[in-house]
Amino acid sequence: MILENFNYITSGCEGDVYVDNAHKRVIKLLYEDFSQENFIYLLNIYRRCQYIHGVIKLVNDIKYKNIHRKHLLFDYIEGHSLAKICVKRSLSLFEALSVMSKIINVIVEVHQEDIVHGDIHAENVMLSNANITLIDFYAFRKQKTDDLVDICKLFYEIKWDVELIPKEVKALFPKRKDAILRRYTTTKDLQNKMRLLFRSFHV
Ligand SMILES: Nc1ncnc2c1ncn2[C@@H]1O[C@H](COP(=O)(O)OP(=O)(O)O)[C@@H](O)[C@H]1O
Ligand SMILES: [Mg+2]
Repeated sequence: MILENFNYITSGCEGDVYVDNAHKRVIKLLYEDFSQENFIYLLNIYRRCQYIHGVIKLVNDIKYKNIHRKHLLFDYIEGHSLAKICVKRSLSLFEALSVMSKIINVIVEVHQEDIVHGDIHAENVMLSNANITLIDFYAFRKQKTDDLVDICKLFYEIKWDVELIPKEVKALFPKRKDAILRRYTTTKDLQNKMRLLFRSFHV
């Protein structure tokens, strides 16, 4: 398929991703064998999340430029993925904790809607100025606790200035899955602990 004025970004496990710079849109062309059921599922979860600040916005345009392949059309996010930023430089303690806390807040809201992101990692978190946007929800059902575990793992994907991470911060994010699930039942538990930590910093 020829996509004029689209710039190819990547091909992932669901499809090929292009950016339409002129119209500030990103389009994910799903692979031919992507099931209708999973397509409807994805459309639904993005729609249900449209009011959650920090979740990528789906653009309703079922026949974008007459593309006859199942696709998802999104607003373009300025900035870079957290993964890309971390390749360039270490985040300060303040920046990293602020990013983690924003991700946790968004996921708590997503879980309140009974939706699971399913694929939280540094390439699926976009950062522009101080804002984060979660992209790339996973089409195959997973548990909320998978998101909880992925958030704790993400903490170790962030390139930190290691000397600056206090023990009490590390303790919030256990490394092992069993330890994470012993410590927290829901992402809300992690959010509460994070809030307590922030409060202790301000005393
Ligand atoms: N809405 C968007 N705005 C800007 N860049 C995006 C957007 N969506 C995706 N990207 C870029 O494309 C990459 C791949 O998109 P993603 O939806 O995560 O697909 P994949 O399934 O290939 O991981 C992202 O890591 C990000 O760099
Ligand atoms: Mg991705």
